[in-house]
Amino acid sequence: MSVVYPGSFDPLTCGHMDILKRGAALYDRIFVGVLNNAQKRHAFSLDERKSFVELACRAEGLQNVEVRAFDGLLVDFAQACGAQAILRGLRTPEDFTYEAQLCAANRHLAPELETVYLIAKPALAFLSSALVREIGSYNGTIDGLVPDAIKNTIAERLSKR
Ligand code: PNS
Repeated sequence: MSVVYPGSFDPLTCGHMDILKRGAALYDRIFVGVLNNAQKRHAFSLDERKSFVELACRAEGLQNVEVRAFDGLLVDFAQACGAQAILRGLRTPEDFTYEAQLCAANRHLAPELETVYLIAKPALAFLSSALVREIGSYNGTIDGLVPDAIKNTIAERLSKR
């Protein structure tokens, strides 16, 4: 069974990576969908965001993960990948409120596509890409917040913003 794991990944965090690793153990194949939305301003380019996921997955030896850019509707991307489900992580009650709406919209568009949620490990539940961007922009340490394989590149880029 295959699944899509979509997101902005601006940048990939250890929280994303935890969901990705746990998903990779559950599903035969995971397509990571990196959002390419011209209307959304990202700190990192699409190529950077994709390469962060690729590098981190290589470092972890994840063999069943494929990274793809997507624009347009998530359900169309999932169908193009031939996936049966959408994977998302849940950290907080606020996430739940947003995710319940996203899930309902996607169910309306594609009733056959399930959305599956993995609850974040408590130690990672505080973590977000926005937090990484803020800490990094003030030259704070992002050790333990983003995967080691991409830590230096991200820190360098954020300190120059
Ligand atoms: O990492 P994010 O920013 O929380 O990811 C949000 C994402 C990419 C899952 C969401 O914005 C999305 O699915 N965008 C594609 C457009 C779409 O299908 N929207 C939901 C139905 S209205």
